[in-house]
Amino acid sequence: MKKYIIGNWKMNLNVHESSLFAAKLAQSLPIKRGVETVICPSFLSLQPVSLQINHRQMKLGAQNCYWRDEGAFTGEISAAQLRGLAQYVIVGHSERRDVFNEDDRDIRFKVQAALRNYIRPILCVGETEMERNDGDTEHVLCDQVASGLMNVGSDQLDQVLIAYEPVWAIGSSAPASNDDIAAAVKVVRTQVEHMFGKTASETVPILYGGSSNLENGREILSITGVDGLLVGRASLIAPEFVGLVNAAAEISREEK
Ligand code: 13P
Repeated sequence: MKKYIIGNWKMNLNVHESSLFAAKLAQSLPIKRGVETVICPSFLSLQPVSLQINHRQMKLGAQNCYWRDEGAFTGEISAAQLRGLAQYVIVGHSERRDVFNEDDRDIRFKVQAALRNYIRPILCVGETEMERNDGDTEHVLCDQVASGLMNVGSDQLDQVLIAYEPVWAIGSSAPASNDDIAAAVKVVRTQVEHMFGKTASETVPILYGGSSNLENGREILSITGVDGLLVGRASLIAPEFVGLVNAAAEISREEK
C-alpha cells in the first residue's frame, strides 16, 4: 500500500521562510514510488512554493478552505480558488473545530467543496481528552466519519483520506499508544465499511497525527491499517521530515 507523509506547517513560516524551507527539503527528499509526500504551507506561501518545487518530489496541500466557490465571504479562500494549486486540503482539523468553531456541517460541506474542485480532502477526526476519559472515543469517531462523509458518492471515496488525530496527543509530548491507534483506525474503517462497503473500507488511506516524529514514526507506520502520518512540529525540521519519508518508503517496500 502507498504511504502518505503529510506535513502540516500550521501558522508557521512567512513566505520567504517557506520558500527557503521548501528548497531545503528539495535537497534531500527522495522521490519514491511507494510514498506520497505532501507539504501544507500557509495559503500565502502556496503559490510561490508551487512554482519552485518538483511536483514529483512533493505535492501541495492547503490547511483549510471555505466551502462556497465564490462570493461575498470576506477573508475566506475557496476550494475553487485552490484548484490547480493544491492537490490536497486538510479539512476539520481539531484546531479549526476548536479555535474557529467549525461544526460537522461546515466540515461536510468543505469535504464536498474539495471533491468538486478536484482536491483530495484529508478529513481529520479525533476525540478530546474529556471524550476519551468518558469512554466516548468510538462514538465520536463514528459520528465524525459518518457526518464528514455523509454526501460523498462511492465513486468519490477513492479521493478521500482520513486522519485520526486524537486531540490530546496533538502538540503534546507523546503520541497515542500503538494499541490506541490500532483500535481507532479499526473503528474508522468499520464506519467506512457501513457507509461504502468492504473494499472501500480496506483501501481508504487512514493516517495518524499527533506528536509523531522520526523517533516514533516508523513504529506508528508499521501499525496495521495505518497508511501514513499527518505531521505537525516534526514537519518543520528537515531531517525529521525527510527521515519519515525514507522510513515510509522502506515500510512500503517491505509490505510488497
Ligand atoms: P504535532 O505533530 O505537532 O503534534 O501536530 C499534529 C497535527 O496537528 C498535524 O495536523
